[in-house]
Amino acid sequence: MNCDMNDLKDSILQLKREKNAIIMGHYYQRGEIQDVADYVGDSLALAQQAAKTDADIIVMCGVHFMGETAKVLCPDKKVLVPDMNAGCSLADSCPSDRFGEFVKAHPGYTVISYVNTTAAVKSLTDVVVTSSNARQIVDSFPKDEKIIFGPDRNLGSYINAMTGRDMLLWDGACHVHEQFSVEKIAKLKSEHPEALVLAHPECKDAVLKMADVIGSTAALLKYAVAHPEKVYIVATESGILHEMRKRCPDTLFIPAPPADSTCACNECGYMRLNTLEKLYDCLKNESPEITVDPDIALRAVRPIRRMLEISARLGL
Ligand code: 13P
Ligand code: SF4
Repeated sequence: MNCDMNDLKDSILQLKREKNAIIMGHYYQRGEIQDVADYVGDSLALAQQAAKTDADIIVMCGVHFMGETAKVLCPDKKVLVPDMNAGCSLADSCPSDRFGEFVKAHPGYTVISYVNTTAAVKSLTDVVVTSSNARQIVDSFPKDEKIIFGPDRNLGSYINAMTGRDMLLWDGACHVHEQFSVEKIAKLKSEHPEALVLAHPECKDAVLKMADVIGSTAALLKYAVAHPEKVYIVATESGILHEMRKRCPDTLFIPAPPADSTCACNECGYMRLNTLEKLYDCLKNESPEITVDPDIALRAVRPIRRMLEISARLGL
């Protein structure tokens, strides 16, 4: 690391103290951002931390829906994101007007939405889930409950298979997790026969079938930390390798390759829009700031709080 980067980190930490701000970072953020964050976690943990922080400013180093979730939970706080263009292809695959029509066309259904959605979609939802609690929250409903699950078709069909349900699925997906190549993972497995495959449930079914462990970013990390003697092929956004390598310095972690070897498609371009420089600027200028329409926020907060309550009850 060069001196400029250290200076920048020091300036960020000083600004943060002066402004009583908290910096939160998702595991997919650039390593230098994770290193400067007060709290690094998966999307459930980031929402849980936002709900309980007493900071005046939350800087959400993640993507837009994570900032929106924090703002909906903390309407009186200033919520900043280093780059307002940090979106999410999965959230984009579920426009609120079309999702609203889908919900209207299926009266009597309980609507369960993944946290990777806009606040507008959450406002049409009964309970929000993340990859850390989706299975348990779905299972907290009676077996014959009619459920709409959106927007991730891969996570939805994985939960259907795990719980023996037949939830109606929205046809959305993440462009990063759909890219992993079964053939290339199989080749890596033949080169490293001892390796275990860790996969995020947003991956396609064919990849999940090869996985030894399926879980959220936090769950995959937890497994690796508990079993550092293994070798891992990691089928999720490659930013998670930063924390894995930090926590298990002697373990070999191999990022699962995308089908197209000419691109860095196992990196989420949206997550990588946030840089240390933009983090410094956003703290200094208190901009860009997340805003949510108050009517939407009022309706979106209920399913998010419901998720936090069920997760607390289940010890998640
Ligand atoms: P986690 O819920 O594991 O943090 O994943 C969020 C995400 O965006 C996955 O692509
Ligand atoms: Fe969205 Fe996929 Fe990026 Fe996660 S990795 S934030 S689901 S685009």
